Amino acid sequence: MARRKKIYEGKAKILYEGPEPGTIVQYFKDDATAFNAEKMATIEGKGVLNNRLSEFFMTGLNNVGVPTHFMRRLNMREQLVRACEIVPLEIIVRNFAAGSLSKRLGIEEGTALPRPIVEYCYKDDKLGDPLVTEEHIAAFGWASQQDMDDILSLALRVNDYLSGLMYGVGIKLIDFKIEIGRVYDGDFQRLIVADEISPDSCRLWDMETGAHLDKDVFRRDLGSLTDAYTEVARRLGVLPKTNGHTKPTLIN
Ligand code: C5P
Repeated sequence: MARRKKIYEGKAKILYEGPEPGTIVQYFKDDATAFNAEKMATIEGKGVLNNRLSEFFMTGLNNVGVPTHFMRRLNMREQLVRACEIVPLEIIVRNFAAGSLSKRLGIEEGTALPRPIVEYCYKDDKLGDPLVTEEHIAAFGWASQQDMDDILSLALRVNDYLSGLMYGVGIKLIDFKIEIGRVYDGDFQRLIVADEISPDSCRLWDMETGAHLDKDVFRRDLGSLTDAYTEVARRLGVLPKTNGHTKPTLIN
């Protein structure tokens, strides 16, 4: 059996060459890292949950006309995605203050923001993904003005979609991070949502109790990360209603 070619291994995922040109297999690991990999652990089942949740969010986005790299789920831990050139920015959208924004500006976590705030960080692990402005992005040529207009519009559409979806299951979307990829259709370039959307890359608070249902559970030692992610999946109907199992049970 031929060994497939590994293209890239990141903190939470591995990318392999896909079966057809222009495709990539995205494998979700159980590894969790925080604070730029200063804190690390293997959390059984996390990869399975994130694969399924990212499929759910990306499929929904594709269906409402927000283009993503997602093509189809292959198995418990892998999905087939469209190959794209990743824009070297992390796009963060915030609806409520939390995390680094609260720290930077001294705003209490959970405070509603006057409007969604979009921030950009330069993707560089060695530098700890520093916050950058549109001036830096333009000056260093990381994205054009047209790209930035498209990225802002994509980010806000993802925010509207995810906020509404979460609101429907009693979860507040505090903030999230997305990555954007470039794909080429003939002479034209298009931008699409890439990477993953999962509780690893969002802050999700239970609307009633304020319980954290996202990676802060791991960052802040608040309990079981798989329980939190399983709860998100269960509410969204990605997992069957609770039947006594604590481990994720997948439905197709
Ligand atoms: O840490 P900070 O408050 O800036 O994070 C904002 C949002 O972006 C959080 O939902 C966090 O999970 C996400 N994020 C991420 N990957 C990073 C940095 C932040 O998914 N490298």
